[in-house]
Amino acid sequence: MAVLIYKSLPSTNTEAKKAGYRHGDAIIAREQTAGRGQRGNKWSAKAGENLTFSLVWEPTFLEAKRQFLLSEAVALALTDTLAKWNIRSKIKWTNDIYVGRNKICGILIEHDLGMEGKLARTIVGIGLNVNQKEFDEWVPNPTSMALVGKQQLDLNEVFQTLFDALEARYEQLQNSPEQIEREYDALLFRKGELHPFRLPNGKEFQGVIQGVKSTGELLIESEGMVVPYLFKEVEFVI
Ligand code: BTN
Repeated sequence: MAVLIYKSLPSTNTEAKKAGYRHGDAIIAREQTAGRGQRGNKWSAKAGENLTFSLVWEPTFLEAKRQFLLSEAVALALTDTLAKWNIRSKIKWTNDIYVGRNKICGILIEHDLGMEGKLARTIVGIGLNVNQKEFDEWVPNPTSMALVGKQQLDLNEVFQTLFDALEARYEQLQNSPEQIEREYDALLFRKGELHPFRLPNGKEFQGVIQGVKSTGELLIESEGMVVPYLFKEVEFVI
């Protein structure tokens, strides 16, 4: 288990995919020149002001069809960490971390499959906005720990707290996965409230989030019917 700190990398997730890294290794970059987000988006973060890192996990005990548990555990480690700085956050399915209507953290998880339907390797990429106060115009509704808490933070301290929280949640997901699912469900952004959603064809509808399935689909009730949506099958209208 090693923590490697780079001044600049294209993307810590891409770096972490290299074969030499093993379970528990963390790759931190002060700056990413080609940070990657979900849905093929870019991830933008000012150099030296935020946490941009990837963690290598080898969850070989976990069946690939249970991989959503890893997303849940990571999201909870983030809400745990923010709570240490008195920041109340929610999890916008699948795993954006929100404070109010603003995104404070993005997570990009990439899996490699192993033998017999099990996972081999998981790269957990985390972009947590810590001290940045001004963002590129194209970044939708961003915020940071400094903006919410009105104070500058020590990046090393935030990293260590988050690293410990990730380890604790990883252990919990092996011992009591039901607890992880319950807590994730309870912290879902906009759960139980009527809000607009958008389908891939651009059509919008009003619905109420009921929860998530253990396979990760978001359950939205609309016009008396509860429909499970896969990632990319629905998006929030914020
Ligand atoms: C998203 O919300 O779209 C996910 C953003 C994930 C960004 C992090 S920063 C560290 C790691 N390396 C990357 O290239 N991406 C992730």
